[in-house]
This record gives sequence, structure tokens and C-alpha cells, in this order.
Amino acid sequence: MIKIRVGDIQLGPEEKKELQDVIDTSRLSEGPKTAIFEKLWAEFIGTKHCIAVNSGTSALIAGLYALLYDTRFPKFKKGAKVITTPLTYVATSNAIVLAGLEPVYVDVDPRTFALNIQQVEDLLKSSDPDEYCAILPVHLMGYMNDMPAICSIAKKYDLVVFEDAAQAHGSILEGKKAGTWGLLADYSFYIAHNVQAGEMGAVVTSDDRLRELVVQVKANGRFCKCRTCTRSKGYCPHHDDDFEPRFTHEFIGFNFKISEFQSAIAIPQVKRIGQIIADRQHNVKHLNELLDSFKTRLDLPMYSPDISYLAYPLIIKDPSINRHKLMLDLEKAGIETRTLFGCIPTQQPSYSGYKSRYNGRLPNAEYVGTHGIYIGCHQYLKQDDIEYIAATISKILITNSLRGA
Ligand SMILES: Cc1ncc(COP(=O)(O)O)c(C=O)c1O
Repeated sequence: MIKIRVGDIQLGPEEKKELQDVIDTSRLSEGPKTAIFEKLWAEFIGTKHCIAVNSGTSALIAGLYALLYDTRFPKFKKGAKVITTPLTYVATSNAIVLAGLEPVYVDVDPRTFALNIQQVEDLLKSSDPDEYCAILPVHLMGYMNDMPAICSIAKKYDLVVFEDAAQAHGSILEGKKAGTWGLLADYSFYIAHNVQAGEMGAVVTSDDRLRELVVQVKANGRFCKCRTCTRSKGYCPHHDDDFEPRFTHEFIGFNFKISEFQSAIAIPQVKRIGQIIADRQHNVKHLNELLDSFKTRLDLPMYSPDISYLAYPLIIKDPSINRHKLMLDLEKAGIETRTLFGCIPTQQPSYSGYKSRYNGRLPNAEYVGTHGIYIGCHQYLKQDDIEYIAATISKILITNSLRGA
């Protein structure tokens, strides 16, 4: 039986109260709860706007489409290139491709999974920078990319910075949160993330025009730029116009709207996010202390009070440790595991068309893709659970070395 999940959620009295409110008012589609969530998340991150959408994937797609529709960014056109990471959950690349753009991969740092800045510079120097429209770094596991360097390269080559902060709810670099460095950023509130709502995402930006465009894109490109329609409250900016703003569409978009239930679940968690982040940090620190003697065989996650951890990543260094076997042994002991995503262009079947172009060019991403795993470090784990995880890993590794295999 699974005892230690990668992600867990326990709906407490605050979540239940918020959910009951939704039931009592019968307002199921986006409304006041979503407005509260958006305000709280924007305040927490430190941006002017937050636009809730139905997943992190949708947040990426909505953000990219908003940029494609924004006439201030003429480099954003079909076929334009986006520099991004090969090592991430596949949604990042999928969104780029689905927006008609081309992902261009550079390798990552094997410990922080951050983009290799030198390779980004070299790529832009050796190609036509006008073909590129954006850099889209991913703050994987909560570790942040070198954002000052990325922003300065982007400025030099006139590129938009779009941060995928899906896994970095509240990570900080040089006093600034993930999601505030770029022009816009996406988050996921899928299970296992610090704040979770089952399925939900958000775009944040401090740019007023982008906010309007994302609001439109998530509602099938409708003319009305209000967060939710204000007509029922007797107000509409297009009240006197001779068209119906909800059913007049300025461009082609999607339905990425959410339900009030998702906001109701997320609101209490955003209110206590400081504690959630601290609990996860405590778990990572404690596990690192308990596993310290295995440091030569496994790369343990780096600890910093500035990192908001998605999970507890481990990279196998000792060639005698078989990843598959380690994962099976952990699962048998009730500890859920995941691989560290894999290198998208060379290890993901859905990107097989990219394989020959990138073969041998992304060694760190491939190494992490074949040697990395992660387990949970979430806020619902107790001291006993942490000790159980450490004791189980120790037992597996010691038995493994005694067997000499
Ligand atoms: C880095 C990254 N980007 C995007 C996403 C997509 O989010 P969702 O699963 O909510 O669509 C995820 C999901 O975990 C993610 O980890």
C-alpha cells in the first residue's frame, strides 16, 4: 500500500467551508471566489495581475497565444523559435509546439536543472537572433534559473522572458520571486504542487495589455476583456455598444476557464502558503541530514531557504545502483516515486522527430533523464514518514552494496 505519496491533499475545515459557500450560492462557473484567488496569488507572487485558468498547460498556451496576438511583439509569429529546457514536464514543450512556435533546446545544469547560460548566448551568437522570440526557462523542482543572466541576454536580443514557474510556488532569487523576473509566468496547481486544486493553473504578469489578452484567449477570444462578465451586475464597459461582447470574438481562443470549486480549494492554501513552503523545506533539510552518508552515491537536493520545493529529487551517481530496481524497491515499501521527466527531444517518444537533431547534444538533460528520480516532501508528511523514507533508502542501498550489484 502506498504510504508516502509524491503529492497529497487533505481538505481541512477551511477548504470545506469555502466549498460549502460555493454550493450554497450555486455559482459554479468563475465568479467571486476566483476573483479572490487571483488577487491573493498576484499579491503573493508580487505581480499586478493573475489570471486563473484550468491547468498549467493552459496557462502556458494562453500566455503564448497572448504574445502572438500582441502587436507589440512582432517577433512572435508562427514558426518563431523559443529557447527552452529539454528537461521538464512535457507540457512546456507541448505548449510551444501547439502555439505554432519551435522549441530550441540547450542543455541544463545537472544539479539545478537550470538552462546553461553559456549555451544560450552561443546559440544566439551563432544564429540569426531575429528568428527567436522568447526564452522560456523552467524552475524545475523549485530551483531557480539564473534569471539576471537570462533577462540580460533577452534584453540584448530583444526576446520576451516567459517563466515556467509551475513547480516554483514562491521560490526566491536575489529577493525576487519566481514569476516576477519575466514579462509573464505560468503556474500549475495540480496535485503535488505547493498549492493544489486538483486541476488548475494561472498566468501572472504586471503588463495590462497581456492581462487583457490572456483573459480573452481563455474565453474563446471573446471581445469582452472583463475577468468575468459584469452585465448581470448591471454594468458592462460595452453596454452602449451595438454588439454582444460575450458572443463577439476578436480572435480565436480556447475555453480555459475554471470552476469556483477549484478557487475554493486553493484560497485557504494560498493564505497559509508560508507554512506549506516551510514544512517542505524542513522535510528536505531533514532528509538530507538523514541521508548524508550516501552523498557519494546519490546527489541529494541542494538546500536553501529560498527554494520552494516541489519534491525531493535524487540523482544516482553510483553505477551499481539500478534506477528501475531502486524505484521498484521504494514502491514496494510504499514510497511513491517518479522519474525526473526525461530529455524531451531525445527521450520522449512524442518528440522522436527532434531526436536526430539533438542526439549527443544534451548530455546533462539525458543523464538526469536516465538517473534521476523524485519522491514526495509535501506538507502532510510527518517526522515518522521522513524517518521511514530515510531508513528505507538506507536499507535498499546497503543491501544493494552488500550484494555487490
Ligand atoms: C514545469 C511544468 N510546466 C507545466 C506544467 C503543466 O501543468 P498542468 O499539469 O497543471 O497542466 C507542469 C505540471 O506539473 C509542470 O511541472
